[in-house]
Amino acid sequence: MKTLLKPILGISMLAVSLSASAQLSSTVTVDLANEGNLIPKEIYGQFSEHLGQCIYGGLWVGENSQIPNEKGYRKDVLQALKDLHVPVLRWPGGCFADEYHWMDGIGPKEKRPTMVNNNWGGTVEDNSFGTHEFLNLCEMLGCEPYISGNVGSGTVEELAKWVEYMTSDGNSPMANLRRQNGREKPWKVKFLGVGNESWGCGGSMRPEYYSDLYRRYSTYCREYDGNKLYKVASGASDYDYNWTRVCMKAIGNRMNAISLHYYSVINGWDGSKGSATDFTTAEYLRTLSKCREVEEVIQKHIAIMDELDPKNHIDLLLDEWGTWWDVAEGTNPGWLFQQNTMRDALVASLSFDIFHKYTRRLKMANIAQIVNVLQSMILTDQKGQGHMVLTPTYHVFKMYNVHQDATFIPLDIQCDKVSTEGNRTLPMLSATASKDKNGILHLSVTNTAPDKTQTVKLNIPGLKAKTVTGEILNGKFMGSYNTFENPDDVKPVPFNGAKIKKGEVELTLPAHSIVTIEVKP
Ligand code: AHR
Repeated sequence: MKTLLKPILGISMLAVSLSASAQLSSTVTVDLANEGNLIPKEIYGQFSEHLGQCIYGGLWVGENSQIPNEKGYRKDVLQALKDLHVPVLRWPGGCFADEYHWMDGIGPKEKRPTMVNNNWGGTVEDNSFGTHEFLNLCEMLGCEPYISGNVGSGTVEELAKWVEYMTSDGNSPMANLRRQNGREKPWKVKFLGVGNESWGCGGSMRPEYYSDLYRRYSTYCREYDGNKLYKVASGASDYDYNWTRVCMKAIGNRMNAISLHYYSVINGWDGSKGSATDFTTAEYLRTLSKCREVEEVIQKHIAIMDELDPKNHIDLLLDEWGTWWDVAEGTNPGWLFQQNTMRDALVASLSFDIFHKYTRRLKMANIAQIVNVLQSMILTDQKGQGHMVLTPTYHVFKMYNVHQDATFIPLDIQCDKVSTEGNRTLPMLSATASKDKNGILHLSVTNTAPDKTQTVKLNIPGLKAKTVTGEILNGKFMGSYNTFENPDDVKPVPFNGAKIKKGEVELTLPAHSIVTIEVKP
């Protein structure tokens, strides 16, 4: 391991040291002989909450909108999401879920009551987007729905009836109500969250009390007509290992999975989270190293699960992750609207590189959130016919699509590392590899250096490369981003930085760039 600086020297010295050195070089050794698990496509999951303009204005504008729409869904957003191959979509929250009463969101739209979104800015919502609108959207996108049920302020009966409404095919009261509302056949709903952040906005509970509530609520979530439920307990935030331990002991095999939330956020003394677009090199490095800390957090939760569930029956779902900055200037503070730069793109690629390593237990990850909220894929406005921007994070998700349901291939990285604020270290290179069902090897490689080009020697014992093709994502600056006026400032372009000599591959990656390549013999 090479280290550029000792932690004590701090960031300003680091910047000096980096610019004083020549370009970086590193080696990645790909271990083709030791294939790992399949990387579940659900690692690329999404999260859509009734928050700001995620649902209203983002996914949904209603049939009477001047914005081009298909049955009320924005056409531009719909197409961009189809292109992304979203495997699973979580809804309706987040914190919103524990105050949502699903019966207010069914039936004729003009008869649906309005509601106050107490969690997110006190916005008054008209409930025009409800169960039918969400589940139909999932069908249109070809993705699995992940319903987050209300435990905090709802009743056992309410949740039980929701499951019946969505999934029963019988002559049952809820199935008949659904038919009356225009849907004859039930939907398939597999993923069911029993509460969200029950330690906080979902009811301020202790894990012992939540575990008992989980047992009670989940008992009445029945499986109708062949619909198999996969029940998810509301899990810990970040470093709360006690929550996982208590739930594992008290709930055990009554759950299929327990969730975990981890945001790459560092709160200032005054609660500020920093600007999404205007940041220093020190802040860039600090964010990436905080993002990488999710590895240790996952490892520690998995260690508890391994101890209490040695046969690996219960999965871990990271059903909220991503960056969280101060809201964009002039926007509603309760709507969590933020821009998305190359720094966010690197948080995404580094996160996936880690997630791929833990899929023995980690079976799903849902970035927060899909449109207009936190680290979103898409930003929209509603002016005139409406505009849409694909964020750098969207492009990372698309470039990493090749890893969905592919076989994980382990690799070893030898590279420089730097110390960052907060006593963390950041390797200057991150990578992941997989083999798809046709046996094609894909690698995604990220140069995390803020200002240095990096040459990467690929060592792939057993494979003499003949062709290397792929795409690169980069911006002029680590803070480059796309706007409605300039939507293509950051977008993937063909990668021409690969050299092959006698079957050996060398990549040249500009500072703060991400590539995905396929290597063929
Ligand atoms: O994603 C925004 C919020 O973050 C969610 O509503 C909540 O679950 C988490 O605290």
